[in-house]
Amino acid sequence: MRWIDGLEAAAGEKLPEPVHRYFRQGSAGGISVGEAVAAWSSYRFRPRVLTDVSTVDLTTTVLGTPVQLPVLVAPTTLQRQADPDGELAMAAGVGAAGSALAVSSNAGTTFAAVGEVGTPWWVQIYVVRNRDITLKMLDAAVAGGARAVVLTADTPVVGRKEDDGPTVWTVAPTDHLLANLPAGDYADDDLAKADDLTPDVIGWLTERTGLPVLVKGVLRGDDAKRCSDAGAAGIIVSNHGGRQLDGAIPTAQALPEVAAALSGTTTELYVDGGIRRGEHILAALALGARAVLLGRPALWALTVDGSAGVTRLLTDLAEELEHAMRLAGARTFTDLTPDLLTS
Ligand code: FNR
Repeated sequence: MRWIDGLEAAAGEKLPEPVHRYFRQGSAGGISVGEAVAAWSSYRFRPRVLTDVSTVDLTTTVLGTPVQLPVLVAPTTLQRQADPDGELAMAAGVGAAGSALAVSSNAGTTFAAVGEVGTPWWVQIYVVRNRDITLKMLDAAVAGGARAVVLTADTPVVGRKEDDGPTVWTVAPTDHLLANLPAGDYADDDLAKADDLTPDVIGWLTERTGLPVLVKGVLRGDDAKRCSDAGAAGIIVSNHGGRQLDGAIPTAQALPEVAAALSGTTTELYVDGGIRRGEHILAALALGARAVLLGRPALWALTVDGSAGVTRLLTDLAEELEHAMRLAGARTFTDLTPDLLTS
């Protein structure tokens, strides 16, 4: 069995059950989380033959930052449940593989400490109703060297998880969660997600941070275009790992429409959700993504073997991608075009 395929079960041996369930689960009936991987696997390739694939180049740039492989780590919470060093171990593991990561605004590690690891990182932000809180968190992220802001746009309200047993919050201490919340006395309403956002927020974030802004959670071409027109530097096609609107379409299906809407713009395109194999990455790049992001697999790898596990996850997938590119007759990412696929 592939090492990657055993990670979820192996992580289950180490994690408290409510944490393992929280990492795995989707919202509501679990339709979107259940479909994500199969949607990538349903593409079929039209490989090219008799092309020179003696050298394959996996390097690229993400918003100008060079990376060794087109596989980044998505923002996730509760990484200190997976490993005592949490986000620090995640960042170190990603850095050792020559990649970059997004760090959750609900991280259990300060942005200053994340910055000291030296791995290129983006800060993920939920804009909350009390904008001062958001701005102070962004200031800390900028001071910690964040290179971009990832605005999670699919969470005007938090998707409902249907738990039978005790929830994750019975085991996870709050210092594993809100290490970057500025000191203060806040009401629940201050911290509630802003549900009145419009594309204007992209300009506001760009101006206040001086950083490029990516919008995460886009599933439609028209939304991608609105974000691009409003100044987004990047779009992350995502359904939040099936944790927001249940029944939202698989990202593998949404990607072509979003790629078409962004053609002719300079907005970079990324995708996450259900990506588990080199062939899935091959399909995503052929459909127009610049790189993919991994959510759960990175949490499993961090749980099983700390930063070394995260490095191995990324390097194993890079090897798989390289192998798949050779088999497809592709040497570089510019060789990966939509005609490589049928659905
Ligand atoms: C997430 N995700 C997420 N996204 C985000 O923007 N901010 C966050 O804090 C979190 N937290 C989070 C926790 C856990 C446990 C999971 C599983 C996911 C979503 C994440 O960034 C990403 O979109 C998905 O996880 C990608 O799907 P896969 O790779 O998990 O299938």
